[in-house]
Amino acid sequence: MNDDVKKVNDIIREAGIKALQETDSEPEPQLTGGVQWPVSVQLGRGLEGAIACETTIGYVNGTKGWLIYRGYNIFDLAEKSSFEETSYLLLFGKLPTQQELDDFKKKLKDNMPVPKQVVDILKSLPTSKTHPMSALRTAVSILGMMDETAEQTTVEAEREVAIKLIAQLATLAGAVARIRKGAEPIEPDPALSHAGNFLYMMTGEKPDPVLERIMDVALILHADHGMNASTFTTMVVNSSLSDMYSSISAGIGSLKGPLHGGANERVLYDLDEIGSPENVEPWFRKARETKRKVMGFGHRVYKAYDPRARILKPLADMLSERNPEHRKLFEIAVKLDDIVCAELGKEKKVFPNVDFYSGIVYRAMGIETPMFTPIFAVSRVSGWTARVLEYLAQNRIFRPRAVYVGPIKQDYVPIEQRS
Ligand code: ACO
Repeated sequence: MNDDVKKVNDIIREAGIKALQETDSEPEPQLTGGVQWPVSVQLGRGLEGAIACETTIGYVNGTKGWLIYRGYNIFDLAEKSSFEETSYLLLFGKLPTQQELDDFKKKLKDNMPVPKQVVDILKSLPTSKTHPMSALRTAVSILGMMDETAEQTTVEAEREVAIKLIAQLATLAGAVARIRKGAEPIEPDPALSHAGNFLYMMTGEKPDPVLERIMDVALILHADHGMNASTFTTMVVNSSLSDMYSSISAGIGSLKGPLHGGANERVLYDLDEIGSPENVEPWFRKARETKRKVMGFGHRVYKAYDPRARILKPLADMLSERNPEHRKLFEIAVKLDDIVCAELGKEKKVFPNVDFYSGIVYRAMGIETPMFTPIFAVSRVSGWTARVLEYLAQNRIFRPRAVYVGPIKQDYVPIEQRS
């Protein structure tokens, strides 16, 4: 193993040990062992506290700062697994044998190429002027129109579509990145890993092993995260027995927002705006005065340091050493992290989330800022599809209520008498 790749794995292991030491005193989570429906819970606006279903896919403990996929700790997976293996784990509920993993990797590779018509349509759209997430959302929609199996909504048929989508989202995002720059999209190279291929298709260069490994880690870290807005969106769409392509394109639309996955891009705009470590304090004071949210901080579930940020921070540290501009950005980020944790952390339990350090890692890898959220989608498609399939097997259409607070008895006034 290349020394730098080994260093990446060592960094993740150390981050895991530190996380365990720092959160050890927090109380153990109360696992329910199953829900007796109907269930009574306290609800907040935005469905805070609501329970929509049971799952065995992933578990987030916001007090401990734990993230678990199918029982496996995120630090272990990030250090030892690959995106392909993690996707298999999420979809099938167990770690694959060597043969199962080889077959799954082959299936992903076989499905990576996308129909030429989709690329042609992307080229004909104003992709260079629109957000790459809009292009990606549209591309998934077009893919669905070209797949004659798309309307089959059994778990088995949708699982096949899920595997196609996990494979093809990387190719589509790569094509979008190239078209934005006026360059020709690149065909996937079957000799590369999923992360390596994704980087290759975005940048046009065969990736250096350490960048390939770090992209692989980033894809593992972003693959699943409970009932977040985009995951819930995919499940809501699929619960009407629509189809996997509609569900995933809707999920991409939800992830795009700056309060969700779109925050990774906004963090970099903020750090660029701050410009130097000395400006952090005055910038933050003004943000507080004007009640401006600090992007990359805060979470509905985590009231502790996000375990994914614990991994991405030292990786950003390592990569930013290669370039003085990236180093300055990292120093600004660390100073902002310290100030926000000291104030908002103490007052409101607001800490860095996954989006705070990921952008610094991506920029140091030579990726342009608008492509940061598509990277998130290329990974999260594993969690989206796994959860859609799990819910489909026990499907009940989603249908919450809004409390009507408007008038009840209005007299209908003819238009000529209205003032
Ligand atoms: N900057 C400043 N204050 C914050 C921030 C922040 N980033 N996040 C939360 N707070 C404050 C809120 O203003 C609120 O203060 P109040 O009690 O005085 O009103 C308090 O902390 C509690 O926060 P909520 O508003 O209850 O958090 P909510 O669960 O509604 O929102 C969210 C969570 C959307 C992530 C929010 O923290 C936010 O907007 N963060 C910035 C955007 C961001 O980084 N999003 C990515 C999240 S991770 C992901 O989706 C992949």
